[in-house]
Parts: sequence; structure tokens; C-alpha cells
Amino acid sequence: MTQPIAKVSDIIFVRFQLRDLDAQAAYLEDFGMTAVQISDAAIHYRGTGSDAYIYAGEKGEADVFIAAGYRVDTMAELEALAESQGVEIQDGDALIGGKMVRLSDPDGLGVEVYYGVNTLDPTDESVPVLNSGKQKNRLNQAQRFGSGAGEWSMDDEGNMRYALPSSVMRLGHTAINVKDGPTSIAWYHDVLGMIVSDNIIGPDGNVGGAFIRCDNGDMPSDHHTLNVVALPSEAAPFHGTFGHAGFELEKSLDDLMAGHFHMKTTGKYIHEWGIGRHLLGSQLYDYWRDPAGFILEHWTDGDLMTADQPPQDVSIVDVIKGQYGPIPHSSFNMSLPVEAVDEFREALPSLTEMIVKAVEGPKT
Ligand SMILES: [Fe+2]
Repeated sequence: MTQPIAKVSDIIFVRFQLRDLDAQAAYLEDFGMTAVQISDAAIHYRGTGSDAYIYAGEKGEADVFIAAGYRVDTMAELEALAESQGVEIQDGDALIGGKMVRLSDPDGLGVEVYYGVNTLDPTDESVPVLNSGKQKNRLNQAQRFGSGAGEWSMDDEGNMRYALPSSVMRLGHTAINVKDGPTSIAWYHDVLGMIVSDNIIGPDGNVGGAFIRCDNGDMPSDHHTLNVVALPSEAAPFHGTFGHAGFELEKSLDDLMAGHFHMKTTGKYIHEWGIGRHLLGSQLYDYWRDPAGFILEHWTDGDLMTADQPPQDVSIVDVIKGQYGPIPHSSFNMSLPVEAVDEFREALPSLTEMIVKAVEGPKT
């Protein structure tokens, strides 16, 4: 295997161009992030972790995914990236600092790589202690999340609203829709040093994508920092598009559930998929579409892997079935204007039906 030019150690943020910064700011606050800086030109949001920002939105004429931001641990790696890709090393912006390079992946999706970034003090939160059937860790103490039932109130129309959002901690991964899986997997390995956790075997028996992770040697990495999904030629308009960004929550299942009921009872957002538990990566997940039509995910309790874990081949059916959870709509992982989502879902069967039929053939 080719020696990579650099090894990114983690993902930091996603960056978008957006038409309506105000609507996105309201969504991100409902989603559970905290504003770092808001101006007429841009919005930057952080989680409870140490990253300077985990979401950046820049005012523009169209809603466009711009880039995912990653970090490397040495300046030498940034210099090697600049030289090999023929780009200049630039200063990071005033918030994130450090040095950076701007790259473009095989589908033209933006990749920013940083060295020496600013960090913030993490916001410390207590972690709830959970009892299971066989492990009783909490005695003589009630389990309360937020202010318990006090998070609920009735609005003027008689609708019950749940006030407490999730506490988003950090960005964990993105998913992208690409033209050719092996080409993208090779680029993210050769340039950014990412290694395969699971090769996704498509209906034709070939590798149609992968879950890939950072190579941090003996240090654990998330099961995936990037999910590459190759779409068939019928879906060519979606080649080179953003699928979703997955944000890890500070606490536990309570955080996921609270965020779900907060998002749901605002009555403002399109629910995309969840709550369920993925098979590949094991995360508990919940996906919500933002006002610009991009899908953001809450997740918790994912798998961690060291670099010595070998890649596995998995069926695309396992990606979409998960372990448990609802049937995903055809619109999952598709960046669409919110007003186009209903029509898109109605025009196609569920993602599960499409994929199971493609792999197993129609039932006779
Ligand atoms: Fe995800």
C-alpha cells in the first residue's frame, strides 16, 4: 500500500455556504451547539469539546457544502501536503488559528487540513450514571436529565414543547456521495492517511464505498471519520455531494433522546432517520435535516479502533439495516432543499427496499 503523504489525526469542523444564516443559527442552537461568533457574513458554532468551532456557515447566494476540516499533528505533514498537491500553506482564520492547506478530493469536495489550531476549554458536564439489569451503579439517587419533567411546557396552541437540546460535543465524521468508491478511498488513504474499517460491497459484488478512519497507531480512533458512498449512474447528479455530518454528544442515550424530543417538538425540522443503532460503528443515531437541506446527525456510544484492526468486507445491506431503527427514506444522505424532500421521498421507495432488492433481486 502506498505510504500516505500525511495522516490526519481527527476531523474538526464542516463548512458551508448558506443563504439564510439566521435560520441556520436557530437550527444549530436547537441541535445543541453554542455560538462562538455571529456576524452578517458568517456564523461559527462550537460543541462542549475543545475545538475552536465544529460548524462554520458563510453567507452566500446558494446553499453549498464547502469543506470538511481535519488536523495533522506535525507541520512537516502540512508541508508535505502543500508540496504534493501544489497548494500554498495559509494562515487559519482568526478563530481557529494555525496553518492550513485547501485541497480538493476526486469529486471536487473541499478538504481543509490544519496544523497548530487554537483550542477552547471544554465545557465540563457531569455524566449520568446508568443502571443496567446486572450492573447497579446508582443507589439512593434519582435519575434526572436536565430539570426532568420541568423541561416540558405547553405553548399557546396547546402543543407540548420539550426545552432541553442535546449537548453536542464534537464533530465525529462526515458522509459523502461519490462517483467511484475505490478512487475516493485510495485518495483519502494516499493523501490523508485514512484506513479502512469496513469496505462496503455493493449490489454488483464490488467495493462501492467504505467506512474509513484516522490512523492514530495505538491510540483509538472512531470507527469512521469518513463514510464514502458510491452512487449508481442513475444518481449521477448526487455524485460529489455532502451526505451528512455526524456530531458526537456529550453524554449518553439521554442526550440523544432529549435532543430528539427537543427537535421534534419545535415543529420546525424534517426528521430524516432514527432513533436506532447502526451495525457498522455501533452508534446510536438520530438524523435531522437543517433549513439549508443538509443532514446533521446526533450520535453516541460508537466503536473505537486502533490501527491494527484489519479491514472487513460488509454488505451494503448491513449499512442500511443497522441493528434496529426505523426504515430510512430514499432522501437519507441526499442534500435537498427542504421543500423538495416530500416529492423526493414519494417518487422512490425506501432506501431499505431499493438496496435489498438491488442486492437480493425481486422476490419471485
Ligand atoms: Fe453518520
